[in-house]
Amino acid sequence: MKGVILAGGLGTRLYPLTKITNKHLLPVYDRPMIYYPIQTLVNAGIEDIMVVTGGKKSGDFLSLLGNGKDFGLKHLNYTYQEGEGGIAQALGLAEHWAQGDSIAVVLGDNLIENNIAGAVKDFKASGKGAKIMLKEVEDPERFGVAYMDGDKVDRIVEKPANPESNKAVIGIYMYDGRVWDIIKNLKPSDRGELEITDVNNWYIEDGTMTADVLDGWWTDAGTFDSLLSASQLVSDTGTNKMG
Ligand code: DAU
Repeated sequence: MKGVILAGGLGTRLYPLTKITNKHLLPVYDRPMIYYPIQTLVNAGIEDIMVVTGGKKSGDFLSLLGNGKDFGLKHLNYTYQEGEGGIAQALGLAEHWAQGDSIAVVLGDNLIENNIAGAVKDFKASGKGAKIMLKEVEDPERFGVAYMDGDKVDRIVEKPANPESNKAVIGIYMYDGRVWDIIKNLKPSDRGELEITDVNNWYIEDGTMTADVLDGWWTDAGTFDSLLSASQLVSDTGTNKMG
């Protein structure tokens, strides 16, 4: 299976840190942020990787990552997102490269303590549908939130003002080859973006979505507080540990 890291967008929640550079080039403890999601894919056995960049300093990704030698890779693929049309739009830019295949997606500002090798293996074995990963959080209103019906995800609500659950949908997704057409049929949300939550709700309605609970810590690093706590978590406990 191929993997995509989404590192476009403008990172406006981190102004002025992101006024002259891309959010994913900022440091998280001892590495640039983009190193963590790449390691997440590599640790899951995914070595055919595309990085979707965008915004300012996108050329710096090439200087920093090159062909992925720091991760034991021989080659990395890159593409460029103009503007900030949303996570699903950024993913859609990988369509020509994926050539209709299934795909694992990691948001460029998502870090995990352990690894997702088991989830990737399960998804590959199922051969169809999609998989998301859930984590209980204290501030679900910041995320896509999974509303449950028993132990099944009934629907996902993006950043609800009054969340009915504390289960955040983390920024790691796996999709079968139908995702490319689903993205083409999405309509922009009220904030003008093609939402990954709409893609996920499509699979839920189709009855082919599975959800795993992530083991170990997870954080995004897209706000001042989460950027700080991401560095603290990596420094305290390490990250991308092999299970
Ligand atoms: O962190 C997990 C959350 O990420 C999920 O729970 C939400 O459902 C999902 O919508 C997303 O929420 P955010 O509002 O935090 O996403 P953000 O706009 O910060 O984008 C996350 C990453 O996605 C960002 O680091 C780079 C990539 N991205 C985002 C946008 C809007 C792109 O590559 N292009 C884009 O246009």
